[in-house]
Amino acid sequence: MFCILLSTVVSLGIVTAENGQNAWLRYAPLRSVNSYNLSLASNIIALNTSKSSPVYTASLELQKGIQSIFSQAVKESDEIHQAASSLIVGTVDDYSHVYGNGNDVPDLEEDGFWLNTEGETVKILGQNERGALYGAFEYLSMLAQGDFSHISSVNNPNQPIRWVNQWDNMDGSIERGYGGSSIFFNNGGIVDDLTRVSEYARLLASIRVNGIIVNNVNANVSLLSPQNIQGLGRIADVFRPYGIQVGISLNFASPTAIGGLTTFDPLDSGVISFWTNITDQLYQRIPDFAGYLVKADSEGQPGPLTYNRTLADGANLFAKALNPYNGVVMFRAFVYNQLNESDWKADRANAAVQFFKPLDGKFANNVVVQIKYGPIDFQVREPTSPLFSNLYNTNTAIELEVTQEYLGQQCHLVYLAPLWKTVLDFDLRVGQKASKVSDIISGERFNRPLGGSAAVVNVGTNATWLGSHMAMSNLYAYGRLAWDPSKDSQNILQDWIRLTFGLASEVLNTITKMSMESWPAYEQYSGNLGIQTLTDITGNHYGPNPQSQDNNGWGQWTRADKKTIGMDRTVWNGTGYSGTYPPEIASMYEDISTTPDNLLLWFHHVNYTHILHSGDTVIQYFYNAHYSGAETAQAFVKLWESLKGKIDAERYEQVLYRQTYQAGHSIVWRDAISNFYWNLSGIPDEAKRVGNHPWRVEAESMVLDGYTIVPVKPFEAASNYTAIITSSNTTAGTVATKLEFADGTYDLAVNYFDVVGGRAKWQVYLNNKEVGEWIGDHEDTLGHALSANLDGGTASRVTFKGVKIQKGDMLKIVGSPDGAEAAPLDYVALLPPGVID
Ligand code: GCU
Repeated sequence: MFCILLSTVVSLGIVTAENGQNAWLRYAPLRSVNSYNLSLASNIIALNTSKSSPVYTASLELQKGIQSIFSQAVKESDEIHQAASSLIVGTVDDYSHVYGNGNDVPDLEEDGFWLNTEGETVKILGQNERGALYGAFEYLSMLAQGDFSHISSVNNPNQPIRWVNQWDNMDGSIERGYGGSSIFFNNGGIVDDLTRVSEYARLLASIRVNGIIVNNVNANVSLLSPQNIQGLGRIADVFRPYGIQVGISLNFASPTAIGGLTTFDPLDSGVISFWTNITDQLYQRIPDFAGYLVKADSEGQPGPLTYNRTLADGANLFAKALNPYNGVVMFRAFVYNQLNESDWKADRANAAVQFFKPLDGKFANNVVVQIKYGPIDFQVREPTSPLFSNLYNTNTAIELEVTQEYLGQQCHLVYLAPLWKTVLDFDLRVGQKASKVSDIISGERFNRPLGGSAAVVNVGTNATWLGSHMAMSNLYAYGRLAWDPSKDSQNILQDWIRLTFGLASEVLNTITKMSMESWPAYEQYSGNLGIQTLTDITGNHYGPNPQSQDNNGWGQWTRADKKTIGMDRTVWNGTGYSGTYPPEIASMYEDISTTPDNLLLWFHHVNYTHILHSGDTVIQYFYNAHYSGAETAQAFVKLWESLKGKIDAERYEQVLYRQTYQAGHSIVWRDAISNFYWNLSGIPDEAKRVGNHPWRVEAESMVLDGYTIVPVKPFEAASNYTAIITSSNTTAGTVATKLEFADGTYDLAVNYFDVVGGRAKWQVYLNNKEVGEWIGDHEDTLGHALSANLDGGTASRVTFKGVKIQKGDMLKIVGSPDGAEAAPLDYVALLPPGVID
């Protein structure tokens, strides 16, 4: 017998034209497998061959995978007693029944599996059918990574609930979706062709996700129409062979909206019958229906508080209807009110504990309170939600967001597993005992029957699913961590890289480096020291806009003024939030000297000149971090370019496009945030970088013909605070300037605004010779939320590399407007080698 080292296995060249649709399940061919003397099973014995069975799916997947990786056909066989040199897949019960030797199989928990590749017969046995399918995917994942070792491995899930939440609307749009439109819905109904849904099911099953909520938490009542319930049934039929149960988000006011009732009071008998009836109808069509996700009394959604009923009354209403069917209610803890910033003690971060702690023990056993990882809303860094440490007699689940809503909307590379791990691994020290979040949500710490994870995953019709190949590492990592939160982020990532991009070590090392540096870099240039993502909070959550955080009722405040910044969340002088943690954690955050720098401004209101543990002042750290984060984003482009020829051309170009865009946008972020706080505090950057751009020529300072100077809002989104647009929406404008830089070779960067509503064209000339051109088509090429304004989200950069310049050359840009896009320009930068600006 043999064991082959991973490093000796090579993938068989580069597969051309990959569009990402198969993601990590592409089963790329491996080279010279025969030379490894690998004897693969030639038969598959599937212990259930009914088409809707996950065991049958497992057998199909094994045939497909082995064929694709090794070009070797494996036949399905019903010769159950010729098991030698076969691959047996099924449940432990069926295995015992057929072979009578189930006693050899280790004990498994629900959904668990045993993978045994030690003998001549490979055994993939699940505690249930779903577990068997997971085992098949695990075996294929090993093979695809060139891992042919002989193992006997028991795999059990850490937590029973491992769901994803799609925020899809019935009209086919997706709330916070950046990868195309819905694969589930269009025109108010369920799509006819569910092929993509089945491919999605396959991906989810391979990462051991066992449930999906298919519609937006801001739910549309029309999903409950008889016709749509039938449509949901079709969706569930597609997910069933993959062991995934389907559930839906509910609108609490459905009884009045579609039930002909005058109330949606959860204690009203008519309302109770309404929901019982709806639930019965759903189970009639979908016997394995998963349950409901409920967003109530949150951000304008109706809920029980309207009738002075508690949130527990609201949740239990559904729990009762679901209970006969073993269905589950995921009840969201994302409940908060609008607040007034003039009240020093007001704090949205306190809301969940205030609403839910008094209800501990009042929720039915099939209710799970679904808690976002931090107390606000998926920010680039938040402390662990204290609600996890305040519910001992309630099932809980963590809510993560694969969707990069506040984290670059899949147009910035941000590998999220390290962020999630800061929460999953966090020890809340409840009762002065080890209380890791992962052990709380699994049900273990407080001995709860249910619990788990949910992730917002807004995949869409884009071939890449999320709009970006690289963003798929987050979906992969989510499933892996929900199964086993103790796994290392980098190890998970590397499995994903090998499966997605191949086994070459340069590819592995480069993508590892980029991904592992990506969240820290994004944090550095978007919002550090715990201040949150300084994005357009009242807008589309994409570009920089620090002042939008304050002076509104949303409570994501920074409380920045001329001298100070940060939320005082202490008990002694602030909102009292730190006191909502167990004593050991509370005292750490209460005291500024023991608060980690990366959460300083979350917990404390300080002067810009406050000295951090690192020795920098707050303001100087801001400047340094923004410059260093943007620098890292530039390096990602070079790193990616080093992979040319080592990755298929299609995905190489698509990733390069996004990395190049990110590099430009990180400079927009860097400058906007640095300028904003420089303006506010009046404290200059010790390193003299902020506001000092010797390599730039502002568009407004050039000779303008057919162009007009306009202010930009927020001002800091433009260099020197203004930009130019063509004076008419139909006639091209020209800007020209004489370049006063020394002779040499430069990268010529142009900062412009790519707004929705047109595809303007720009052409750049040096001494009337064209250097290059580009089109304002980000609405087609990038999936982030759009804006029609010149702002931090539309500010973009294009770079022409290696342009030879002589002092006195005439630079000219011709901008041809299109529709609402008036060919806006901000500045030109001529960057000598090594200069980033
Ligand atoms: C965020 C997000 C909304 C979403 C909400 C929620 O606020 O921006 O789009 O509806 O979270 O989680 O319910």
